[in-house]
Amino acid sequence: LKADITEQIKTTTDLVALEDVRIAVLGKKGSVSQLMKGLGGMAPEERQVMGPLLNALKNEVADALADQKDVLEEAELNVRLQLEQVDVSLPVTEHPSGTVHPISQVMDEIAEIFASMGFAIAEGPDLETDFNNFTALNIPEEHPARQMHDTFYLRPDAEGIRKVLRTHTSPVQVRTMLSQEPPIRIIAPGRTYRSDSDATHTPMFHQVEGLVIDKDTHLGHLKGTLETFLKAFFEVNSVTLRLRPSYFPFTEPSMEVDVQCSFGNGTVKIGDGNDWLEILGSGMVNPKVLENCNIDPAVYQGFAFGAGIDRLAMLKYGMNDLRAFFDADLRWLKHYGFSA
Ligand code: PHE
Repeated sequence: LKADITEQIKTTTDLVALEDVRIAVLGKKGSVSQLMKGLGGMAPEERQVMGPLLNALKNEVADALADQKDVLEEAELNVRLQLEQVDVSLPVTEHPSGTVHPISQVMDEIAEIFASMGFAIAEGPDLETDFNNFTALNIPEEHPARQMHDTFYLRPDAEGIRKVLRTHTSPVQVRTMLSQEPPIRIIAPGRTYRSDSDATHTPMFHQVEGLVIDKDTHLGHLKGTLETFLKAFFEVNSVTLRLRPSYFPFTEPSMEVDVQCSFGNGTVKIGDGNDWLEILGSGMVNPKVLENCNIDPAVYQGFAFGAGIDRLAMLKYGMNDLRAFFDADLRWLKHYGFSA
């Protein structure tokens, strides 16, 4: 009987069959269990002989079952490992990741360049007071410049105060001068708004303001700062600037700054060439503005400039339609290498 049972156990090929054998042998009605039951009806002498024999048989069968169980379980695991192999040659599923928008990237580049020249970053809100956006900057009520700015006005609040969406970053000059003692050396990048829309104008656009106030800051510092910035930004060894007389109520004298370049078919190369491109507005801070901001013009003077960030980005990356910046078209971002 023992040999027969061991043979049965060894030849099982899966755990279900093994369990069947176990029930057939050690189950309530199993062959070995039946024999054990038979002990009760035996004569004491016979029982003394058969008892230990049957117990030993039962133990050996149990051991054989456990051993076979280990063998079968290991075999099953090996089969599973085979089946669950990872095929590293399968194509990967793509998980497109977001990236930094070109405008944000250009803002970061600008901030980094000016930071290396010792400029801090200043900020102001998009919703400005009339005073900060216009009056303090020497643009009084009825001044034609207010019309020129195509201002978005908000409805007056309960106290009759009418805020504006800032038309330039210059109000941050005012905020900085009102809250900080000179020497001042800041840039203020941010959103600006004018009611205007075509291929080169969007109602919301971006500017970066620069302001330096100290006791003997002069035009040469302005020119040097802009040259250093433009060389770093456009990654060229030299830039030639042309300062053209202009007019801004908040600077005196005022200059429009052009950079020497060459226009190809649809492209612009900054550096040298026979063409000029207007890049920004600038000038020496008007003493009236210093006074409006509680800074003594007899002691302090300085320069300011304001540049369109979107335009700088278009020039640097060879983009031709400003509106595309704000269309959020992933294909466009990808085309300019801004998307993974
Ligand atoms: N605020 C001016 C504009 O938006 C630019 C400017 C800034 C000019 C600072 C001079 C000085 O056009």
